[in-house]
Amino acid sequence: MNYQTLFHFLIFSFIVSSVSLLPVMADYGGATSIAFATWLRSSYSFDIYSLPTSGPLSEVRLTDGVSVNLNGHFPSTSSVSMLPFLPNRSLPTTHLIYITERNGSSSVYLDEIHETPLLSSGSESIHRVNTESIRVGSRVATVSSRSQVLLVGDGQSNDRVSMKDRPSLVGENLIYVSTHEDPGKPRESWTAIYSTHLANGTTRRLTPKGVADYSPAESPSGVWTAVASYGEKGWQGDIEELGTDIYVFSTRDGSNRVKVVKHGGWPSWADDSTLYFHRRGENRWWSVYRASFNIRDGEIDVNSVVTERVTPPGLHAFTPAASVANKRFIAVATRRPGSPYRHVELYDVVSNKFTISTRSATPNAHHYNPFLSPDSTRVGYHKCRGTTNDAKGNDLILETIRSPIPTMSLFRVDGSFPSYSPDGSRIAYVKLPTEPMAYVDSPGLYVMNSDGSGVRTILSRITFGTAWDWKRKGVVYASVGPIFAGESSHVDIISIDVDNVNASYKTLTHGGGNNAFPSPSPDGKWVVFRSGRSGYKNLYIMDALNGERGGLRRLTEGPWTDTMCNWSPDGEWIAFSSDRENPGSDSYALFKIHPNGTGLQKVMESGSGGRINHPWFSPDGKYIVFVSDYAGVSAEPVSNPFHYQPYGDVFVIRANGSGIRRLTHNSYEDGTPAWSPKYARPTSAEWPNNGLRCSFVDCRWLN
Ligand SMILES: *[C@@H]1O[C@H](CO)[C@@H](O)[C@H](O)[C@H]1NC(C)=O
Ligand SMILES: *[C@@H]1O[C@H](CO)[C@@H](O)[C@H](O)[C@H]1NC(C)=O
Ligand SMILES: *[C@@H]1O[C@H](CO)[C@@H](O)[C@H](O)[C@H]1NC(C)=O
Ligand SMILES: *[C@@H]1O[C@H](CO)[C@@H](O)[C@H](O)[C@H]1NC(C)=O
Ligand SMILES: *[C@@H]1O[C@H](CO)[C@@H](O)[C@H](O)[C@H]1NC(C)=O
Ligand SMILES: *[C@@H]1O[C@H](CO)[C@@H](O)[C@H](O)[C@H]1NC(C)=O
Repeated sequence: MNYQTLFHFLIFSFIVSSVSLLPVMADYGGATSIAFATWLRSSYSFDIYSLPTSGPLSEVRLTDGVSVNLNGHFPSTSSVSMLPFLPNRSLPTTHLIYITERNGSSSVYLDEIHETPLLSSGSESIHRVNTESIRVGSRVATVSSRSQVLLVGDGQSNDRVSMKDRPSLVGENLIYVSTHEDPGKPRESWTAIYSTHLANGTTRRLTPKGVADYSPAESPSGVWTAVASYGEKGWQGDIEELGTDIYVFSTRDGSNRVKVVKHGGWPSWADDSTLYFHRRGENRWWSVYRASFNIRDGEIDVNSVVTERVTPPGLHAFTPAASVANKRFIAVATRRPGSPYRHVELYDVVSNKFTISTRSATPNAHHYNPFLSPDSTRVGYHKCRGTTNDAKGNDLILETIRSPIPTMSLFRVDGSFPSYSPDGSRIAYVKLPTEPMAYVDSPGLYVMNSDGSGVRTILSRITFGTAWDWKRKGVVYASVGPIFAGESSHVDIISIDVDNVNASYKTLTHGGGNNAFPSPSPDGKWVVFRSGRSGYKNLYIMDALNGERGGLRRLTEGPWTDTMCNWSPDGEWIAFSSDRENPGSDSYALFKIHPNGTGLQKVMESGSGGRINHPWFSPDGKYIVFVSDYAGVSAEPVSNPFHYQPYGDVFVIRANGSGIRRLTHNSYEDGTPAWSPKYARPTSAEWPNNGLRCSFVDCRWLN
């Protein structure tokens, strides 16, 4: 089968499988839609680039400038030659395997790239990176043509929606991380290592059931796979460095699994008995270490492991890639004191010196997760793409995310607290002061059409927690004031008519304290909200038109936090998030209560110490969508840009607490989901000014 036919076969099977599933799914009240926010995610625009490991620093962009492309791998020539579906060409060719997020979920692609070196005559090429112009050097290589093959994902017949990560090729098998299997326990990561035979599609799990593995690396012979893993103990709630150990097992079937290093992550093999890895040491610096061991009779002798520190203190060095062809150096990412940028550097392990650095090529950009070619002549990494004619930005105001439920469309909004108008035609959302401004310049309240068009500023003040009145057209409720603030902070609930061009808002709360998360009753008469006025955040109900001066009563009372309330469309229930079982613990469970204060029930908790936040009822009131740490952390946080917390996925359950389903799979922080009253057709929309800001924060704890 050549690659064209394979590609057509995959596209065809995608269409067939989604169509055939449609009629059988009658769940979640028929065709339905959910919008949610992802902290910082819309502004990544990553592509994979490479630099030579010696000679002039001519940087090449290897991926096609579409969507978000990351975590690359250069497969060996011998592995690639075994793939039946690649064309046989004589041009100089680079093969690149990587993760791409085109089509709304992560997939693994293989690009066959034919590069034509281009010597410019004295003129220098200018790239824009992070809005600063920088010179790239006088010699540039251009990518002249490419063939693209989907290896795993995009709705192939054997694919399920999942996060996929860290792919590499061993013979005809693709080894990678996937999150498609539910371990059946709350606060447990779903990440496991899989091996897919690319010619016949057979997939086998290499990670034992009930265990989460991260960051797989293949030994040069392909016999061994090393991973970062919690083993049996499971995720401990870590949000900076994961408390993992390094395990090694047989790539063929996951057997002979042994722990080789206590405390470490991101393994990379120099040869079949030498591993590099990173660890955050006692002095808080991230450093690269080396572990050497003996293999006897085809088994690793764990008693022979010798571990030593490789990179010096005084800077952070992490995510190592060991060179197989040239044992002298490794590639690492660094954060150096005084520099706000993450760079990829080569480190000579014999002379103990840093040599090549992306600082010379693009000083003012973050560079992530280096990987080396099999012959060690080039180092790859991902970073934000510059503005070149053939590379488009990925600043989407609305992005369709591939949904695991065929009758449900899922939308990521570039802003927080989205909520749909009762007719489903519009979305209100906010920009928080801590988010990069992709298009608008001020934090505030915004409204757009539900296809992402017609963005309008409604209020240029710090606002959060939006909801639409069910009866009065165009009336939106929101909280105005600082978010994540204490009980006594000044936050008020307002209502505003978004159809009045000179919209002036009405303040509904007057009792002081932190008043937030308004949710109106379906008859348009009342608004439930949380208030810190008593010294504790509890729930209150007030008159929708005249606010608390028109009538106010307390719904819950106790020395704990009840918050993030949502009134069901049938009027019967108010769902909310509460730490009442363990006040002050930062652990929130999902509760519901009748508006008259009776019938309090705990709907669900995410294990002990876990979190369920931002519940929202389905239009028929039978389901609740929420965000939770139920699926733990899906990738080593240090390998990603900063997220306030490196977990948070969107889930749905029945309102009686049964039948949990995971909707989003990624290593980002998803939040604030809202159910639409009507089905919205999948669509994506770019920011109107087509901006390419690619602004985000690198891990703060690396400062
Ligand atoms: C690919 O090229 C090699 C070397 O030129 C040749 O031996 C081989 O038969 C070719 N394979 C195919 C499938 O054409
Ligand atoms: C995936 O996205 C690409 C580029 O955006 C598009 O050309 C292709 O048709 C999509 N494939 C599927 C299966 O939707
Ligand atoms: C796919 O190929 C592998 C390796 O040849 C083999 O072990 C496996 O049984 C095959 N699976 C199917 C379904 O043919
Ligand atoms: C809105 O305010 C502007 C400036 O104050 C005023 O000129 C305009 O007439 C107002 N429009 C409406 C519809 O009230
Ligand atoms: C409270 O509301 C629920 C649901 O509407 C209702 O079934 C119940 O009878 C009410 N209880 C009281 C005491 O009014
Ligand atoms: C919740 O509702 C579903 C569907 O009606 C039912 O099958 C299940 O047993 C219920 N679970 C509980 C805990 O009541």
